[in-house]
Amino acid sequence: MPFQSIVILTGAGLSAESGVPTFRDKDGIWAHYDYREVATPQGFARNPARVHEFYNMRRRAHAGIRPNAAHAALARLEREHAGEVWVVTQNVDALHEGAGSRNLIHMHGELFQALCAECGARTRWVDDLSLDTPCPACAETGGMRPDVVWFGEVPYHMERIVELLQAADLFVSIGTSGQVYPAGGFVAEARAVGAHTVELNLEPSEGRSLFAEAIHGPATVVVPAYVDRLLKGD
Ligand code: OAD
Repeated sequence: MPFQSIVILTGAGLSAESGVPTFRDKDGIWAHYDYREVATPQGFARNPARVHEFYNMRRRAHAGIRPNAAHAALARLEREHAGEVWVVTQNVDALHEGAGSRNLIHMHGELFQALCAECGARTRWVDDLSLDTPCPACAETGGMRPDVVWFGEVPYHMERIVELLQAADLFVSIGTSGQVYPAGGFVAEARAVGAHTVELNLEPSEGRSLFAEAIHGPATVVVPAYVDRLLKGD
């Protein structure tokens, strides 16, 4: 019987072939930047200009980036599968929605969105941010930050994600090292409710043994092939 309720967790490896660097691979983002400086509330409090510079650089680098065959395959799965399909992404890029995914949760926030710490307003944002940027909603300066989740902050939409995991009969983890929690714990939650669990990744992740099945290779190859298999009901 085809799966009724599919939850797909995605990470940086899904966007790698679109030209977005991953975090923990050799030459990844954390090989060049100290996450404590650029991706924690404490780092932002110490040196907000430095943090703005890091995200401005990433926002600019994402401007010309396009979804790849793996993003397209997941959007197709959502469109064509008879059951429910949700993508929960750790990625802050806009490539899933660019490919047409609608049932999408950005658990680590969005690079192209700004959050005002003064009034809580969220605004779509494509330009650079700085300490002098006024919030379009409350006009205060100094409170604007990228609407991304930093280390030490609680990921977004966790209640909804737990609900989806509890109803899942298939959990697929794609292009993530599984080293960041709570996302790294989703496979155990899905297993606990009896879901089939699959890892699709370039190479076996540290958590490989937690998955019932694993297929290794580049996302643009293994994801379309796996989606074909699911749509054929294999
Ligand atoms: P990582 O960089 O930790 O892991 C990326 C994974 O993708 C690795 O397991 C790679 O083997 C795999 N990979 C690389 N290229 C691939 C390809 N072409 N096809 C398939 N897989 C490939 O990235 P994430 O697991 O996404 O959070 O990292 C999780 C979180 O840590 C991020 O959201 C970010 C980061 O620090 C914050 O900044 C809060």
